[in-house]
Amino acid sequence: MTDTTRFEGYGVLVTGAARGIGAATARRFAVEGARVLVTDIDVPAAEKTAASLREQGLTAHAFGCDVGDRHAVEAAVGHAVDAFGSLDVLVNNACHCTPDAPLFEDEPDDEWARDLDITLTGAYRCCRAALPHLAASGRGAIVNVGSVNGLNDFGNHAYSAAKAGLGSLTRTLAGHAAARGVRVNLVAPGTVRTAAWEGREDDLVKASELYPLGRVGEPEDIAAAILFLASREASWITGVTLPVDGGITAVDSGFRRFRRNA
Ligand SMILES: NC(=O)c1ccc[n+]([C@@H]2O[C@H](COP(=O)([O-])OP(=O)(O)OC[C@H]3O[C@@H](n4cnc5c(N)ncnc54)[C@H](O)[C@@H]3O)[C@@H](O)[C@H]2O)c1
Repeated sequence: MTDTTRFEGYGVLVTGAARGIGAATARRFAVEGARVLVTDIDVPAAEKTAASLREQGLTAHAFGCDVGDRHAVEAAVGHAVDAFGSLDVLVNNACHCTPDAPLFEDEPDDEWARDLDITLTGAYRCCRAALPHLAASGRGAIVNVGSVNGLNDFGNHAYSAAKAGLGSLTRTLAGHAAARGVRVNLVAPGTVRTAAWEGREDDLVKASELYPLGRVGEPEDIAAAILFLASREASWITGVTLPVDGGITAVDSGFRRFRRNA
């Protein structure tokens, strides 16, 4: 059952929140009482998402923010603090994923660098700007959105390296920020049905068969885990990576099938 007061009085900033997992996370925070800054590089889409929340009587503002731009990130953090009076939770959700080059050796430097810059350095920029405000909050929390790609080989090498780096950033920042009362954790989703998979319904059906729990994830599955890690119930949890992945990183489905057939 949804607790509409769990995040009452919280100011929350979500990056890449115009659609998909970011939008579901922004919605769930707002439903649970938070004031939410829906930030995204796609400003009209962010405005539409924030407006749909306000239509339900919830508190949400939209703000254009490319996490690749230090000044835009600082402006977004400043806007959240000015508009809400505090910044209590930062969700680093924006990412960039260049599809694998046909040959590993063919990937241009600038494509590799773009995945790292948006997915990893973008989160770092947001943490750097938000940390003093999260420390002032007294209940500050950062939740990074990683991926099973950061834990195991699922292809997309630059994106995967960036997501693995985000796991490391989560741990080192958790150590750095703990004394200031700020917790830092990471969720690592498996395949989630979002617009990122548009036009690839067949792939989602095939992927479902690989998941021990028999389905791919929905954005709300990831939002629920993010809210838990941001909440008081997780007040003694910091520096962890939580796979939210239908069991795919824990259970070797191929080996299980082999044993049944052996
Ligand atoms: N969908 C999946 O299968 C899946 C699996 C594992 C992890 N994830 C992770 O979950 C997060 C969200 O994924 P999704 O599927 O909802 O993505 P999505 O592509 O549906 O949405 C991403 C949003 O980020 C925004 N964005 C892109 N570049 C940006 C930038 N430079 N600055 C700010 N915003 C930017 C886009 O405009 C978009 O609104 C990502 O970090 C992704 O890596 C997704």
